[in-house]
Amino acid sequence: MRSLLSIKELTPRILSDLIYSAADFKLIRDSHDKPLAGQTWGMIFNKSSTRTRLSFEVGIHELGGNALFLSANDLQLGRGEPIKDTARVMGRMIHGLIIRTYDQQDLVDFAQWGKIPVVNALTDDEHPCQILADLLTVQEILGTWEDKKIAFVGDGYSNMSISWMWAAKHLGFEFVIAAPESCQPPAEFLAELDAPNVTITDDPQQAVEGAHVINTDVWLSMGQEGQDEKEALFSGFQVNSDLLTSAANDHIVLHCLPAYREKEISEEVLELHASTIFQQAENRLHAQKAVLAWLALKG
Ligand code: CP
Ligand code: NVA
Repeated sequence: MRSLLSIKELTPRILSDLIYSAADFKLIRDSHDKPLAGQTWGMIFNKSSTRTRLSFEVGIHELGGNALFLSANDLQLGRGEPIKDTARVMGRMIHGLIIRTYDQQDLVDFAQWGKIPVVNALTDDEHPCQILADLLTVQEILGTWEDKKIAFVGDGYSNMSISWMWAAKHLGFEFVIAAPESCQPPAEFLAELDAPNVTITDDPQQAVEGAHVINTDVWLSMGQEGQDEKEALFSGFQVNSDLLTSAANDHIVLHCLPAYREKEISEEVLELHASTIFQQAENRLHAQKAVLAWLALKG
């Protein structure tokens, strides 16, 4: 049974095939091909969402399926029913599950007990659907990620930066993270990643110099609200026009959104790059249709 739990566990071939497939889905948005016809997919969300919920509900509908949004608080899960029981019930009634939660292991358990495909709609460890949309955006605007320098300025050990590091490992592009020292990936993670094309610095200027893609995300991810001491570490890490002066001439700026203006990104830079950033948001729909169609194939 296929699932999409992380970028880490994809093969380079499947990762790039999904991005090419996403580009095809974008070209034929109103295709008569309905790979989810007759299927119902559940969506369990334990954290807030605008883009992910919207794009999955619309995507499932466009592929001929039915999306069932299940707020985690309304399920018996919220009252302590174990995942292994919830998953076994769901596996007998629905065809797949899309889950946004904290613990990556919960997704593994749902997939194991439900015996239906599970999609990671964001955990503390990874945000794979977002990275597919981001790579599609890079491909559309820059033509390729090969021979590009991609920088990530912000929390170097968050779901977004982790998924980007695995994408760099699989696809081989130069990837540099600029993060405060205590927000950098630990040595054990980097040893497991084993990717010489991924480097880490605490100097945002160094990361952005000559970069074709400059990527950022919130300093405090969902679940970290109120961690003022952590937020204070990011002074000097804002993506603003001063920082971007040394980037490549044809650089683009990515932000997965939601954005906190004048924190991780200035209002000026966000609005200057709004066409890219909202293209990136739209690409969630096309990328996830590619994922759903891939998961709906038996195999
Ligand atoms: N980028 C992203 O996942 O947005 P939402 O949190 O709104 O789903
Ligand atoms: N790192 C962010 C991503 C939001 C889409 C978070 O987890 O809140």
